Amino acid sequence: MASSEQKKPGHDMFSMQGKTTVVTGGARGIGFALAQTVAEFGSDVALLDISEKPSADLAQMEKDTGVKWRYYRADVTNQESLKEAFDKVVKDFGHIDTCITAAGIALDKPFLEQTWDEVQRILNINVMGTFFTAQLAAHHMRSNSNSSGGSILLISSQTAHTTTPAEHTSSYGMSKGAVKTLALHLGVELAPYKIRVNSISPGFIETEMGRAAAEANPQMKEVFEKAPPLGRRGQVGDLKGVAVWLLSGAGAWTTATDVLITGGLHGGGMHLRV
Ligand SMILES: NC(=O)c1ccc[n+]([C@@H]2O[C@H](COP(=O)([O-])OP(=O)(O)OC[C@H]3O[C@@H](n4cnc5c(N)ncnc54)[C@H](O)[C@@H]3O)[C@@H](O)[C@H]2O)c1
Repeated sequence: MASSEQKKPGHDMFSMQGKTTVVTGGARGIGFALAQTVAEFGSDVALLDISEKPSADLAQMEKDTGVKWRYYRADVTNQESLKEAFDKVVKDFGHIDTCITAAGIALDKPFLEQTWDEVQRILNINVMGTFFTAQLAAHHMRSNSNSSGGSILLISSQTAHTTTPAEHTSSYGMSKGAVKTLALHLGVELAPYKIRVNSISPGFIETEMGRAAAEANPQMKEVFEKAPPLGRRGQVGDLKGVAVWLLSGAGAWTTATDVLITGGLHGGGMHLRV
């Protein structure tokens, strides 16, 4: 190995070698991108999603990353479906060490027009799905035979902290506020089991969800594309470093926290004329 390619000792703290990571909403978008990242850092990957199949060829992913990838079709709003998927993961991988809860849906619709069914669906997927995914993950992490505990990363959103005049995302923002608060509570409650829990709050990220939100609302398209102060749309790659930090040993003393990754919009973008 050429000296420039040699691994530096500091890189070890980010290693996820020997771990199994469960990723809900893992078929595409942010979930899939973060799965790819943990795989690049050595973790095996179990993708859970309601979609029939993942967006990528997992045999190819195994070749590219050198770790094991499996896909489980599961609905995070269905207790039996979710439990069955987790049981299969443990059967296939032997243990669960890290978990990312990325399954989620969004809705951009004026508050005064949102229906009971629409709001209930958002809460079921984004809140109940996240809550019970984290619960199943924690059950398995607590019983890890080597008492190594685990790390759970919940995906909240910028909308849990702030909004723009162009958005109509009251129920979505409410659901993501619940996710952020859940990370705070679980970070404290699960610490005795050596399980860390954190959340990230991304701004506008270019995924199918992000693109659909922009297409449905021309004003949002402008915010989405020019999101100040850094002045560009976010990409899934913008979330990768933070995810590895929080899930790996590098984040060993970080729990019950939320990290905003918005290109700075939450701090100084509200002057945007939309
Ligand atoms: N894209 C953004 O701008 C953005 C910003 C902040 C937060 N987020 C959050 O990040 C997460 C991922 O978003 P994304 O942009 O990748 O969206 P996406 O729509 O591309 O991916 C979401 C995934 O969740 C899956 N899913 C939906 N309902 C499910 C269910 N009941 N059971 C299992 N899987 C289900 C979908 O099939 C899909 O694969 C979501 O929680 C979203 O709220 C996204």
